Amino acid sequence: LDNGLARTPPMGWNDWNTFGCNVNEKLVEETADKIVTSGLRDAGYTYVNIDDCWMAGSRGADGQLVPDPVKFPHGIAGVARYVHDKGLKLGIYESAGTLTCAGYPGSLGHEQRDADSFAAWGVDYLKYDNCHNLGVPSRTRYRAMGDALARTRRPIVYSLCNWGEESVTSWARPVGNLWRTTGDIDASYGRMLSIFHENVKLADAAGPGAWNDPDMLEVGNGMTPAEDRTEFSLWAEMAAPLISGADLRSARPDTLAVYGNKEVVAVDQDRLGRQGRPVSMKNGLDVLAKPLADGSVAVTLFNENTAPAVISTSARAIGLGPARGYALRDLWEHRTTESAGAISAAVPGHGTVMYRVSPTAAPGRYAPHLVLDTTVPG
Ligand code: DGJ
Repeated sequence: LDNGLARTPPMGWNDWNTFGCNVNEKLVEETADKIVTSGLRDAGYTYVNIDDCWMAGSRGADGQLVPDPVKFPHGIAGVARYVHDKGLKLGIYESAGTLTCAGYPGSLGHEQRDADSFAAWGVDYLKYDNCHNLGVPSRTRYRAMGDALARTRRPIVYSLCNWGEESVTSWARPVGNLWRTTGDIDASYGRMLSIFHENVKLADAAGPGAWNDPDMLEVGNGMTPAEDRTEFSLWAEMAAPLISGADLRSARPDTLAVYGNKEVVAVDQDRLGRQGRPVSMKNGLDVLAKPLADGSVAVTLFNENTAPAVISTSARAIGLGPARGYALRDLWEHRTTESAGAISAAVPGHGTVMYRVSPTAAPGRYAPHLVLDTTVPG
């Protein structure tokens, strides 16, 4: 959607995957605090998103949506003020149906009234779900809310959550800033893998302001360290929204380090906005390539299987032209090596190696800083 927002994939947090309906003001504000103190805000995590169950069970006498007064004693406007003061932005949730998935009042037929409430409260992001939709075509329902949001004139990122149904990529680009491409993720390797297989096919649909959304990051929610890195790498390679579904307040340092890997985040957030594409996916050994704005290419070598394996490709196969050589920056080990063109790594089971590959200068124009600059703090 060309509304000037989400020119790179949105980054932030959402309560649903860890807390379900147990959302409240305290959780949201404590998470906002942690996003700041952990350094994640400065790494780009901006949106603090409230999911389902924030409302009272019915609309107010005037037809307005009412926040649950016990969960949100200061209302959504109060939470918005709190997160804005921290330099963050606030997201909210509704459904393009008569009820939300958890049974709270939906926005179908109330689009303008509800969009106006969100804008008045200072909301910056809307995730719009698909439950209880009366069989009205998605395109109609999602456009109605999009038009209502536009009429508020408040910049609100618009996240479509119709689970990839009704060929979402065929109509979503002018409607939303991002759209879910599948049903819900969970913190299992198998589910993460099947969502990756769906989402990786959809690269044509993605670009600045318009992103495929393979659902939240389960990093820190119970997968192995290798699997956590894999999800983070694949999501970045696919220019996916980086929305954590973990309890960041109690997250371990190694979990925060995955979310905070600035070199991988930079691949996700690259301003060219291209979703990485498969170079080869054979026998569970995958090579993906994502062209970046500076002429380098982000390569992900992903081993889907349980046994370790060597995965190989070449500078040419990932789309780079002839060069004197190539600098291979390992985005997890933070080390640079040089190659004449071969790109190869031993990859543990369920693991991923990620390189940023840059051509070194043509003969006679050798730029040693490209290969010698190998240190990155942290
Ligand atoms: C279905 C969505 O896909 C989930 O992400 C979450 O928003 C739930 N609904 C909430 O009911």
